[in-house]
Amino acid sequence: MTNRRFSDADALIYDQDMHDWPGEIDFYLKFANAASKKGQSILDVACGTGRVALRLAQTGVSVVGLDLAADMLAAAQQKAHGLRNVRWVEGDMRSFDLGERFGLVIIPVHSFQFMLTPQDQVECLQCIYHHLLPGGLLIIHNDNPELDWLGDIQPARNPPFEAGKIFIHPQTGTKIKPLDRWVYSPTTQTCTQYKVWEELGEGDTTTHRLEFEPMPMHVVFRFEMEHLFNRVGLQVLNVYGDFSEHPFADNSSNMIWLARKPDNKQTQKELSGALVANNLS
Ligand SMILES: C[S@@+](CC[C@H](N)C(=O)[O-])C[C@H]1O[C@@H](n2cnc3c(N)ncnc32)[C@H](O)[C@@H]1O
Repeated sequence: MTNRRFSDADALIYDQDMHDWPGEIDFYLKFANAASKKGQSILDVACGTGRVALRLAQTGVSVVGLDLAADMLAAAQQKAHGLRNVRWVEGDMRSFDLGERFGLVIIPVHSFQFMLTPQDQVECLQCIYHHLLPGGLLIIHNDNPELDWLGDIQPARNPPFEAGKIFIHPQTGTKIKPLDRWVYSPTTQTCTQYKVWEELGEGDTTTHRLEFEPMPMHVVFRFEMEHLFNRVGLQVLNVYGDFSEHPFADNSSNMIWLARKPDNKQTQKELSGALVANNLS
């Protein structure tokens, strides 16, 4: 499988485009502070431009941010303004070896969904497992799209491009009209974004058209995720529908997982028991 990466242009406008989810930063801070009090560090996997990692580091906890894209990490480094308790590492979330273990690993804002195949998913979770201290926690924030929407954007429906809010390009100062189109393939559970920027000239006529590399993301269903955790030996503690810790429900648009690496005393049998108990709760 080839590596997909965000386009260079994205690092420039990423922060402009990206928002915090309600309660998101406080949720991560709660677990990060608890780990930090025990002298443990935090790993932010697919950290991007450091949106979450920096907020944690600013409170004094020790953070490592890992990402595949050098341009995203360069933007993160610049924003860190020399903070000494945060480190940026270029690497693939399926195959990294940092030579240290963490009390908390987080994968914010849907980045686990870049894992397109069961092999990608398992490799990523195994890698994280090896980087967790016994008893360490893993938080994964996945999207939980509405089934109606997934039905509407199947290839046979030929979903159209939709225009977003016009913005000013931070480098060129030109007006940009963003357009995007999502297509969902149920066979592979892949939702692919096709993104285009139209540069607008006088009278808002299009002067250039920039097509981005298509961005496929895996739609992860609830029990698929539970099986994945169980397969790599991680114990599911909870699944929330939002960052206020409401239980995951039929109308939840988020699926926020809290899992734990068992300490040495727990057996695989106890883990499977926990899985069943969580499914029924
Ligand atoms: C939606 S951004 C999320 C950034 C950040 N976590 C945040 O919350 O703002 C997704 C990030 O995943 C990274 N990414 C995609 N595939 C990756 C991989 N295989 N390994 C590491 N990072 C990856 C991209 O480079 C990008 O920075």
